[in-house]
Amino acid sequence: MAIDNAPPTFDHSLITVIYVLGGPGAGKGTQCANLVKDFGFSHLSAGDLLRHEQNREGSEYGELIRTYIREGTIVPMEITIKLLENAMKAELEKGREGEGWANGKGRFLIDGFPRKMDQAMKFDETVCLASKVLFFTTTEEVMLARLLERGKTSGREDDNVESIKKRFRTYANDTMPVIEYYASQDKVAEIDSTASIEQVYEAAKAAVQNIFSQKDQTA
Ligand code: C5P
Ligand code: MG
Repeated sequence: MAIDNAPPTFDHSLITVIYVLGGPGAGKGTQCANLVKDFGFSHLSAGDLLRHEQNREGSEYGELIRTYIREGTIVPMEITIKLLENAMKAELEKGREGEGWANGKGRFLIDGFPRKMDQAMKFDETVCLASKVLFFTTTEEVMLARLLERGKTSGREDDNVESIKKRFRTYANDTMPVIEYYASQDKVAEIDSTASIEQVYEAAKAAVQNIFSQKDQTA
């Protein structure tokens, strides 16, 4: 990780980072999977990376991560940021091909991150300054129904009513300020994710096209 005053690990003029936010069950992961196909993103889900680390044999953070996830609270940012940074490095070292990956360039959808202001500041400063935030939004009622449906097969320890309520609280208290912060910088593309997956995707795709055309104009 970068030391104080050092530049971020990745240069944002080459590496495009788009944060993907929204409440639990808003459709972040589903929409990211579609965007990957159309735009050649590398999709990194902070929650998936944490669950993977939680289950990794020999991880010193396994129990800690499990507790935070079950309680629906935010894992200490150092852990999550390190996992994301390592995953970005691994992806760039692999040397991907295709749209957006020539000449040292790369494009990442960072899904479910930053969930709290401290993560946002630290990642922007030390890893890579994010270009935009895709913000998927719908009602708690819709999110609850989706999460309970997913819970039938997800095997996730936090897709139950008790954990879901805590996750909604964390989202309102910790994550909404992050969205407001980026909105004040004009970095948020808000997408109503109440409709069908296909309809929401049309809006998501248009938002991403818009982000890249703006980036091309400033390049
Ligand atoms: O995004 P997802 O719903 O998969 O996240 C599951 C859990 O992982 C969150 O409720 C939280 O406990 C943890 N998490 C975190 N910090 C992040 C992303 C997820 O602590 N940036
Ligand atoms: Mg997800």
